[in-house]
Formats: sequence, structure tokens, C-alpha cells
Amino acid sequence: MYKNKKIYVAPMMQYTDKHDRYFLRLISKNVVLFTEMIPTNAIIHGDKKKLLEYSKKEHPIILQLGGSNPKEMAICAKVAENKFGYDGININVGCPSKKVENGMFGACLMDKPKIVSDCIKEIKKNSNIPVSVKCRIGLGKKQNYLFLKKFILCVSKAGCKKFFIHARNAILSGLNPKKNRTIPTLNYQFVYNIKKEFPNLEVTINGGIDNIKSIKKHLKYVDGVMIGREIYKNPYFLKEIEEEIFSNKKCYTRKKILEELVPYIESEIENNKASIQSITRHTFGLFTGMKGSKKWKQYLNKINHMKGDVKDIILEGAKNIYE
Ligand SMILES: Cc1cc2nc3c(=O)[nH]c(=O)nc-3n(C[C@H](O)[C@H](O)[C@H](O)COP(=O)(O)O)c2cc1C
Repeated sequence: MYKNKKIYVAPMMQYTDKHDRYFLRLISKNVVLFTEMIPTNAIIHGDKKKLLEYSKKEHPIILQLGGSNPKEMAICAKVAENKFGYDGININVGCPSKKVENGMFGACLMDKPKIVSDCIKEIKKNSNIPVSVKCRIGLGKKQNYLFLKKFILCVSKAGCKKFFIHARNAILSGLNPKKNRTIPTLNYQFVYNIKKEFPNLEVTINGGIDNIKSIKKHLKYVDGVMIGREIYKNPYFLKEIEEEIFSNKKCYTRKKILEELVPYIESEIENNKASIQSITRHTFGLFTGMKGSKKWKQYLNKINHMKGDVKDIILEGAKNIYE
């Protein structure tokens, strides 16, 4: 029933880093992962390896870019495709932060569909990597379907066939990014209407989706569902998604997930000088809903000061919590 449908883990700055994605992939083999947003100028002028390297186990993985300069976008697309083997790139047209707006990227680009179109064209001219756009349903306090439709029409004409739509407006003055994820009201109908009017586009809905029942409902109208905060808060929600959407009944137990994470942590500490906490912090919510969840969080808060074998440290902390 859900054969051609997709579930995505939303890009989240300072959360969906490579360690988080490796951990999430241990739970779910079918969801598509996103990197955090990475500005194009950081990639062009910065340490590409540090910014873009990831474990091959993370596939399928999409790199999200922040930028608005077509030439720079195209350079990054080429690097993503040829040097790092990403499965797709995505242009951020949804981030409402001031800093991002000053750099002329993120949600303010909803008002500049021509610039987004130029980016799409330039990327397609220079690489074969699939390109998509993640946007909002509009800008400001008033919802305006025609505004969204015109944006989608213009950008799709430039060759973008895949849209991730966060079903809220972005309010660029007066609301910080955090409030921009809760205060503007959700309007899923706008997203359904886009799919109805543009049946050839692949449309994924995002925003406030936190249970299987609503995922199933959305999948009746659109091609995919993207989830951010709920998966971070409760990563084992992915097991339910695997079972209910992908009919995969073979997910690892929580214990097995931690056991599988141990060699990864050891290798990251040894090869990349990662701290244990920089990886285990993503497992904070692994026991959400279980009796010992609070104990696990308290344990993780002290983990950087613990001495000994990584395996012993991890398994000791979790031993009384497993189901
Ligand atoms: C901490 C945090 C960081 C985020 N960073 C990004 C980002 O880098 N790029 C992006 O397109 N959206 C970003 N978002 C927005 C999410 O991708 C998503 O659109 C939003 O959280 C709504 O989905 P949700 O209700 O399932 O969390 C971020 C959200 C949060 C909470």
C-alpha cells in the first residue's frame, strides 16, 4: 500500500550531524536522511572533508545547501556528486533566521523564485545529481495559496521535480526561528492542493507530524512525509515507521542498536578525535516512554568523565533499562 511512498528525516542544524544519522540508520534502513543545512560558501572556502564526509552506511542521504548564488550552488552540487557520492541535493528555502536572510538564502527566497530557478538550472547544467527544494507555504502572517502555487510553478519549470513543503508560513520579522516552527499555523491542505495541481511533481509534506496515524493519512494525498523533531525526541519511533509503513519487522532492539553503535564510537574516537558524548548525545531519547529513560539521560550527562572501555560504559548505563 505504501510501496512508492517515502519517509524522510528532516534536516536539523546542530542535530542531524553524521553521528546522529549513523545512529538513526541503525534503527531504520528505509528512511531517507538529510544533512544539516550547509552554506555553499562554507563548502567552497572551508574544509570539505570535515563538512561533507559521512559513513557509506548512511545512504540514501541528501545534502542540504544554503545559498542563492547559482554558480556556487553548481560547484557544491558537483562536489557533492563526484567527491562525496550524495544521493541528492536540496536547496533550503525555509530557514527563517536573520543571519540566513542577510546572506540572502533560506525562507526569504520564497519571494525570489527566479533566483531559486536560476540555481536549479545551473545545477542541472553542471551535474546529474537529483535536486530538490525545501520550502514553506508562504511568507508573513497571511496565508496565500496563489503565492505558493506561483513559487512551485516557476521553480518546477526550471527543472525541479521534487518539493519538501513545511506546511507553515515563515514570518521573517518579529519571530525567531524557534517560534517560526510553532506559531504560524499549519495548513496541510495547501500542500495537498499542490500535489493535486501538479501530479507529476514529487511532493513531501512536513511540519508537526508525530504519529503513525497522521503519517498514514498524509500519504493518501502526497508522496512522502518528512519528520524532524519527533524522531529526534523519540528515535525509536523509526521502528514503528519501519513496521507500519515499510512492513519491515526485523528492526534491531534498543540493546542491539547500542551494541552496534559501540564500534562506530570507538572508531570515531580513534580516527577523528570525537568525544564519546558528541555521539551518545543523539541517543538521549532512545528509551522515551520507558521507565528508565530519565536514568539514561542522567547517565549520558556524565559520560564524558567516565573512564574505561566504550562498550562497558555504554552497556553498563543501559543495562537496567531495556525492555
Ligand atoms: C533545531 C532545528 C534545526 C533545524 N535546522 C534546519 C535546517 O538546517 N534546514 C532546514 O531546512 N530546516 C531545518 N529545521 C526545520 C525542520 O527541518 C522541519 O522543517 C521543522 O522542524 C518542522 O518539522 P517537524 O515538526 O517534524 O519538526 C530545523 C528545525 C529544528 C527544530
